[in-house]
Amino acid sequence: MPQQTAGVAWPVTDGTRVPFEIYTSQDVFEREQERIFRGPLWNYVALEAEIPAPGDFKTSFVGDTPVVVSRAQDGGVHVFVNRCAHRGATVQRHASGNTKEHRCVYHQWCYDGRGDLISVPYRRATTGFGGYAPDFDMKAHGLRKLHVASRKGVVFATFDPGAPSLEDFLEEPLLDAIDRLFSREVKVLGHMRQRIHGNWKLYVENTRDPYHAALLHGFHATFGTYRSNQKGFRGHDRARAHSAGGKYGDDFARPATTETVGDDNYIAGYSLSDPSLMAGRPDFNDNINLAITSIFPSVVVQQIMNTLATRHIRPKAPDDFELYWTYFGYADDDEETTAARLKQVNLVGPAGLISMEDGEAVELIQRAIVREGKDCAFLEFGPVNADPEQDSHGEDAVRAFWRYYQGIMA
Ligand code: FES
Ligand SMILES: [Fe+2]
Repeated sequence: MPQQTAGVAWPVTDGTRVPFEIYTSQDVFEREQERIFRGPLWNYVALEAEIPAPGDFKTSFVGDTPVVVSRAQDGGVHVFVNRCAHRGATVQRHASGNTKEHRCVYHQWCYDGRGDLISVPYRRATTGFGGYAPDFDMKAHGLRKLHVASRKGVVFATFDPGAPSLEDFLEEPLLDAIDRLFSREVKVLGHMRQRIHGNWKLYVENTRDPYHAALLHGFHATFGTYRSNQKGFRGHDRARAHSAGGKYGDDFARPATTETVGDDNYIAGYSLSDPSLMAGRPDFNDNINLAITSIFPSVVVQQIMNTLATRHIRPKAPDDFELYWTYFGYADDDEETTAARLKQVNLVGPAGLISMEDGEAVELIQRAIVREGKDCAFLEFGPVNADPEQDSHGEDAVRAFWRYYQGIMA
């Protein structure tokens, strides 16, 4: 195993120690863009339900590279870099929309829904000025295209033609987790985005860390969305790039007492002034109340009760990333179900009753480690040699993430 990542030395490579420099180094960030976000991996970019009709598009990111996700006139989904082939300007400046052509505002080069160049002003020097040589080849000046794969309408892209198939990259039980949530046609309910002043990997760790869930999130323990003594599950691919964990809802909405919570990490005496917040109804018949599927490197797919969402991690700098939430329900939801989902959106997002603390925890770390690069995070909760499938509460999935990361960055 490597002992170094872009100049950062690992004291041990089993994931139990993480040098804080890994979250602050610009060199590490640059290497991540090359090895991870432009490497032989698949990056989540959008849901097909966001671009249902020909001409629909949305802008997204692969790492820190802006891309356009487009439904072309032929119905196919295309992903291309949002950077003009002429002089490099951002071509599509809207977050989403429908268009027959993507026109760069600077000199009006124009591209179709596949990213191919379709027109160039003053291409022939007929008016006495400008013009391109007769052998100017429009086909050679399209937008840079990525490879695209979709699983049940969840769209992934990669720069690397050598990436394995999406199915081989994800493996079971990650495929099962996607298939479960996207088993019915989905309907997008809305978006939220937030800027978190911390390293993107701190957030990835957070989504694989059941240790904190009932401790940091008083809401979870108090109102029963997640309690440490509830029966849980955890799965992963063989390389352990990804993690699929969650809880069964046996204690769903039972009031918090020492008995139901199992310890006293709930907020005694708290109740909801609007109890209908928790009055959802099961979407599935598997009794899973909460499922957090963390797909390396860039997305978390979640079910928290009736709140269904993707969370797209968009790194901007070593100490800065955007978290982009896409909320969805099902096309055949009735009005009452949609209303319940929209109410439960209060649980998550930037100011969510649960998720707000995760962004804050990331920033609490980033703020404290800036001058402590050689010191390490300590990850031995678990215990270290526990069977990850048996012990779904420990830091095992976080350690596994770091081992995978060291390999891909080597
Ligand atoms: S930079 Fe886009 S047309 Fe010139
Ligand atoms: Fe959390």
